[in-house]
Amino acid sequence: MEEVKNYSMPLIGDPAPSFKAVTTQGVISFPEDYKGKWVILFSHPADFTPVCTTEFMTFASLADEFKELNTELVGLSVDSLYAHIAWLRKIQELEWKNYKNPKVMFPLIEDIKMDVARKYGMIQSQSTTQAVRAVFFIDPKGTVRTILYYPASLGRNFDEIKRIILGLQKADKDGVATPADWRPGEDTIMPPPGTCGVAKDRIETKEDDKYCLDWFLCFKKEKK
Ligand code: BEZ
Repeated sequence: MEEVKNYSMPLIGDPAPSFKAVTTQGVISFPEDYKGKWVILFSHPADFTPVCTTEFMTFASLADEFKELNTELVGLSVDSLYAHIAWLRKIQELEWKNYKNPKVMFPLIEDIKMDVARKYGMIQSQSTTQAVRAVFFIDPKGTVRTILYYPASLGRNFDEIKRIILGLQKADKDGVATPADWRPGEDTIMPPPGTCGVAKDRIETKEDDKYCLDWFLCFKKEKK
């Protein structure tokens, strides 16, 4: 008989499932402790593994940049607190790329019983004993806004992780959407679809900061 799987996952737009957990920085109540802040809640398969180590060196080195974006990092794996502490100490001795002796100051959740991992759909068919590389982007009201899942073998793209935070914040601040491959400083998209009239190569509108390629695709010029 096929095994019955016992898992759930929050979807984009859902409230972030709440939990209380022991971390390397003390006990946290999630998401209440992070009200008013953006949070990147992420999981990794296991401490003392190579890809995870490069990711933690990168997360640690970018933590201040995220803080400047009102964004806190929270990590999780199904390892024990003792394993977390030993691994993070070891990471501090390492150098890789531009990252020298990275100190992990953000909380890393101990989730031996996989309670949190199961709530967030982090235990998937790849392994019943390790989390996948999940990334949940949670907004200041505690709503899940973006979800990424990577397999164990693929290290995450931190440019994209930062771009997601910047894109979500831009969308909230200016009421816009962001086009394919958008980077900060580039023009954004005005939702809902504009009504700029008949299609031409590029339709200039009366509003100086807006242009349309067609009636359903209008951009807002980013101030230079
Ligand atoms: C790693 O981080 O290198 C890794 C972890 C679990 C499975 C495979 C690779």
